[in-house]
Amino acid sequence: MIDALPQWLPQQRWFGAKGREIHGIDIVADRLLVEGDPSLRHVLVAVDLGEDTETYQLLVGCREELPTRLAHATIGTDKSGNALYDAAHDNELTHVLLQLIRGGEDEAGLRFRHLPGVDIETDLTGIVMGAEQSNTSIVFGDSYILKLFRKVAPGLNPDLEITRALADTGTRAVVPPLGWIEDESATLAMMQPFLKSASDGWSFAVTSVRDLYAEGDLHADEVGGDFAGESERLGAVTAEVHALLAEVLPSRLADEAENAATAKQMHERLDAALAVVPELADYADGLRSAYDALAELRAGVPVQRIHGDFHLGQALRVDDGWKLIDFEGEPARPLSERIALMSPMRDVAGMLRSFDYAARHLLAEQAAAPNLEYRATEWAERNRDAFCSGYARACGHDPRDDAVLLRAMELDKAVYEVVYEARNRPTWLAIPLGSIERLVR
Ligand SMILES: Nc1ncnc2c1ncn2[C@@H]1O[C@H](COP(=O)(O)OP(=O)(O)O)[C@@H](O)[C@H]1O
Ligand SMILES: [Mg+2]
Repeated sequence: MIDALPQWLPQQRWFGAKGREIHGIDIVADRLLVEGDPSLRHVLVAVDLGEDTETYQLLVGCREELPTRLAHATIGTDKSGNALYDAAHDNELTHVLLQLIRGGEDEAGLRFRHLPGVDIETDLTGIVMGAEQSNTSIVFGDSYILKLFRKVAPGLNPDLEITRALADTGTRAVVPPLGWIEDESATLAMMQPFLKSASDGWSFAVTSVRDLYAEGDLHADEVGGDFAGESERLGAVTAEVHALLAEVLPSRLADEAENAATAKQMHERLDAALAVVPELADYADGLRSAYDALAELRAGVPVQRIHGDFHLGQALRVDDGWKLIDFEGEPARPLSERIALMSPMRDVAGMLRSFDYAARHLLAEQAAAPNLEYRATEWAERNRDAFCSGYARACGHDPRDDAVLLRAMELDKAVYEVVYEARNRPTWLAIPLGSIERLVR
């Protein structure tokens, strides 16, 4: 199997080290969960990238004969010529995970757990979600979603940690975990109810933007698909979640000297970004003065656990309102950074950036008429404002009152996006560059 991995891993959506040279791959755990044909093994591989090592989780199926429905999941062949494949796609094997979670079993060094009082149905077919994901989620029937954390770091995964802590408060703002899989050192998977009628915030918002573009002459507040009411409620739910997190997990008032340290990191990220994207140079002075303003802020900032990777795709709209999901933080960052206490304004900045993306990405892919450019700005401004108003309504703190902090964080995020787009989606580079231009002007 190991021979096939250097080829196969970089082709996976969830592989975080695309484009980096793989110096070697080690199998650090290989556990047999199902014997026979098909067989199922749970495998952890350490990928040596020179400066650092990343560990990934695989479910490896093995069959003498691979049915065509599984051909797309092929990894390679073993020494005897049997087919090896990504067993997350094999519903004959994945339902075993449900059985193990239901039984609360310990199997081959893996611990399958469910919360007390939860009775898990096992007669369900598992299908891998089609979404562009940083992990792999298997949906069982209409009932459960099991997310396999692909990149594994020692310790409690913050997605499970935070979702559980919030669910324990009784809030309806998250989807309460039902169970999980772990080994002696790390969380490997989390299971939650599948919300079949949910629409994710990104698709929902983009539908509203499309409506607006189709109604050439109308303004954002006049079209049927106006999103501002949703943005307002999403802001309120975000504030509620921040308040609960500050209550049940550590939080403190950072000393004012930490503003300078935060600003210094922003300057450093900008230095690195300038080396990758020369177009940023035009805005460097404006960016630096926004960071300097943060450094000079003479007041300490409250810091706490936050979402860490907050955008419209991390919220689900169901009948009773918005639910926030995916509290893992940015998977590319080390765990210690992902669980560090930070200003909740970082999440607000992330969502504000997301409104900008929702408004503009349709234009980035085509030659836009100038009036659409105007419409996009109007939609983004309207929804960014509505989000902040909802946030203020729910907790009494209007993010717009923290203008210096919020602006620096939004620009820092946009600089990160510029690098990401330059590397991955050059046609979208104009989105964050345009935002930086508007914000520093
Ligand atoms: N409980 C759920 N019910 C329905 N759909 C869900 C649920 N949880 C996640 N999803 C869908 O799966 C997508 C990816 O989930 P997410 O937790 O953000 O995974 P990742 O860590 O890979 O980004 C979401 O955008 C959403 O569309
Ligand atoms: Mg996500």
